Amino acid sequence: MRFRAVKGMNDILPDEMERWHRLEGAFRRAVGLHGYQEARVPVVEPTGLFVRSIGETTDVVDKEMYTFERHSESLTLRPEGTAGTVRAYVEHAIHAREPVTRWYYIGPMFRAERPQRGRYRQFYQAGCELFGDPGPTADAEMIDMLHGLFRGLGIPELCVAINSMGGPETRTRYQAELLEYFRARASSLSEHARGRLEANPLRILDSKDPRDIQASEEAPRLVDYLTHEDRDHWDNLLQALGSLGVPYQVDPRLVRGLDYYTRTLFEVRSDFGQVGSQNALGGGGRYDGLVAELGGPSVPAIGFALGLERILLALPEKRPDPEPFCFLAPVGPAAQKTALRLAREIRRLGQRAELDGRGRSLKAMLRRADALGARLVAVIGDAELDRDVVAIKDLALHAQQEVPTANVPAHVVQKLSLARAESRPPPPPPSGELG
Ligand code: HAM
Repeated sequence: MRFRAVKGMNDILPDEMERWHRLEGAFRRAVGLHGYQEARVPVVEPTGLFVRSIGETTDVVDKEMYTFERHSESLTLRPEGTAGTVRAYVEHAIHAREPVTRWYYIGPMFRAERPQRGRYRQFYQAGCELFGDPGPTADAEMIDMLHGLFRGLGIPELCVAINSMGGPETRTRYQAELLEYFRARASSLSEHARGRLEANPLRILDSKDPRDIQASEEAPRLVDYLTHEDRDHWDNLLQALGSLGVPYQVDPRLVRGLDYYTRTLFEVRSDFGQVGSQNALGGGGRYDGLVAELGGPSVPAIGFALGLERILLALPEKRPDPEPFCFLAPVGPAAQKTALRLAREIRRLGQRAELDGRGRSLKAMLRRADALGARLVAVIGDAELDRDVVAIKDLALHAQQEVPTANVPAHVVQKLSLARAESRPPPPPPSGELG
């Protein structure tokens, strides 16, 4: 019996892992410089948490959740990270410990979407949530951090789209206008949009159906309905972004697919690489009402999440040199015992050592060392055993040297450190370039 992975859920194998680690490392470095600390929350939460925060009439809750029942409780695999993070913030009364909290997370999310390139049913997000700062300085700084991270990664054709949702008052007024606008055009909407028109007309604005896109072409614009305070926030955000020199585009259609947003909304897009139509690499916004909605005090918040698979599709391919390491090639059982001890010693000194203990010919072992990208090969044959030495080959320099067996670990460590120092690029800029 053979099994296959669930459709839309991918294996990430070791040869791809290098790029993942470098991307995650760049993210951790960039957000660490802003004081974000990692939080890990469960991948399963009570279904009601997502319904309440993301909104019943969103695509995510309406169509895409993996929900199941256990011990008479309805549970859901998290479709995103904000709801669980806010739940944890409230549950542990973090607001009582500190006025401002900066958390980040990296992990898998689950949405039962139709899979295609850049859209999966299990995918990874790296996200940040900032609690306790009403902005707009915090908003500008977060967007700048994101922009710096993407620039540092070397992703071309970047576009930072922004919009403002306003607060609850703006939303109520705007929704009423939008409802009227779409009611007059109901016959040209998709069936799905028509079905949700009365409940949540905002969601029609982020529909991908060409009929809905066309019908919303002349829809009223959110920014025209902002209250005084909302407009102030928006104007100050634009000024702060201007003074930081962050290039942005105001996108009046940007409403984002989740209901918890208030005021600032943003999305980073790139059409470079293999991203195809899934060109939103990350997005986020302010959600000033959510902490209170989930039973906490009234604490303003803002955050974003990046789609790691999509960023990897957009990243120019750069294969880094493998980390130098030592391969041990013993010929015969006696040599294998010496090699076992030496490999353990080399690892104790903090260097990678791989031992070929399968008893194969020297030629086969050298081929294997080459295929693995080893820098050094320690050859131990009868001739070496007799004289208590090991032949150390440097595959990059095509050089060979005999070293007394007792000195091999120290010698290997020194050679590998030298090789690493020679190939090390200059230190990354603070924005978090791939290192
Ligand atoms: P989101 O826009 O739903 O926002 O997702 C963020 C990013 O996750 C997207 O821009 C995209 O790159 C990636 N993504 C979403 N769905 C998929 C999928 N099916 N396959 C691959 N990648 C995907 C949120 O999730 C919010 N929680 C962001 C946020 C944090 N807002 C405030 N704080």
